[in-house]
This record gives sequence, C-alpha cells and structure tokens, in this order.
Amino acid sequence: MNRTPIIAGNWKMHKTVGEAREFAYAIRNHKVESAVEMVVCAPFTSLSALAEELKGSEVRVGAQNMHYEASGAYTGEISPGMLTDLGIHYVIIGHSERREYFAETDETVNKKAKAAFANGLVPIVCVGENLAQYESGETKAHIRNQVIRAVEGLSSEQTKQLVIAYEPIWAIGTGKSSSVDDAQDVIGFIRSTVEDAFDSQVAVQVRILYGGSVKPENIASYMEQPDIDGALVGGASLAADSYLQLVQGVVGGK
Ligand code: 13P
Repeated sequence: MNRTPIIAGNWKMHKTVGEAREFAYAIRNHKVESAVEMVVCAPFTSLSALAEELKGSEVRVGAQNMHYEASGAYTGEISPGMLTDLGIHYVIIGHSERREYFAETDETVNKKAKAAFANGLVPIVCVGENLAQYESGETKAHIRNQVIRAVEGLSSEQTKQLVIAYEPIWAIGTGKSSSVDDAQDVIGFIRSTVEDAFDSQVAVQVRILYGGSVKPENIASYMEQPDIDGALVGGASLAADSYLQLVQGVVGGK
C-alpha cells in the first residue's frame, strides 16, 4: 500500500497575516520530486490569506482547531463550515496543548472528528502520552484508549482518509525527540489498534505521522520506518527554508 507522506507544519500561535503571506510566497512554487503532501496549519486569522496565496499550488492549508457545532451562541469559536468556506482542507483535532490548556477531551475530539468529515474536512487527530505515563510504561494503554475513542462511530471510508499524529508530549518543543525505534513501535501499534477497531484494509490506508522535535536533520530517519507516514512539525516549520528542507527530507527517507 502506497500512502502519500505528509509534512504538516503546525504554526501554533505564530505569524501575522503579513508573515503568513511571505511564507506562502516562499514555498508556493516548490516542486517535489516524488509525492509528498505539503500542509500548513495556521492560526484562524491567517487562513484566508494562506488559502488565497496557495490556491493552485501543491500546498494544502489546515486549521488548528474548530468547534463541532455548525453555528450558534459559542462566542470565540469557529465552525467547520466556516473553514470549508475558505478552502481549508485539514483541521488538527485534539493537539496535546488543546487537551492540556483548553479542556479538549476524548469526547470532544470524537465529536470534532465526525463534524470535520461531515463537512468535507480531513481531521489530523493528535494522540500522545505525557512524561509520567511514558516513564511508568503506560504509553500503549493510553494511546490505544485515545485512538479508539477518537474513531468511535466513524465509518471505514472516513477512517481510511483520517490522519493520526503521534506526538509524545515530553518530546514537543523540548528538543528531545522520541527515538526512531520507539516512534515506529508506537505508530505500528496505532496501526494495529485501527485494525482492531475496523479491519486491515482501513489500517493499511490510514496515515500516521510522528511529531515532537522533528527537524530537517532527523526527518529522514523517521521516514525510513515502515509505519511512519510523515511528520507534524512545530518549531521547525516556521521558517520557509526549514519547512522546505523537511519536505526534501521526506523524499530522501522514503
Ligand atoms: P515541535 O516540532 O516544536 O516539537 O512541536 C511539535 C508539535 O506539537 C506539532 O504539533
């Protein structure tokens, strides 16, 4: 099964609209030799400008969150339909920072994943253990639970399109990336969890990314692993040249 690799930048709370446009100018004419999907997930304020500047390019734009309701009295929230209206393709759901600081739960992650598909968006669902869970050997039990709860009630067809990002919380923004073997081990385990929840046809198609201190220097070693289909990258995705080096690294690794 050929799964197209993804390099998804997650800008988090960075960049003004002007800075986002500059980034778009710098990457929009980039041609990759083999199939790599280039994705940039930006703050809501920059999405419209990015979608406009990247229209017709190979780069897809993603949001970093959304509400699951279609509309209503939810001050400060953004609906799935508002994102599709802008031409947004992906939406990150359940990032550990949203789980930790903004009360995202497995239940809201599941509701948002369903709402994303219902509106023609593709969710990038994040899962990952914290340091205490990692150190006490609870990683797999925790990840299995997060994955099963995220995909509950999704159809097989939807889950085949789903993107899952495994981001150990202790590796995010710390410079302490997971070892390549550990990342492959957990990501292979996520694939078998999807197989248990659906079947092997679904499991072989779902794309699973690694995230946590990914850089141009280490991307190729992750990409050499059989189950790792790309990366969700924070800090190293902010500068256009570093982002493009990550994309080149995928080509080198697969
Ligand atoms: P860093 O690449 O900065 O470690 O962030 C990872 C992340 O949280 C991407 O969503």
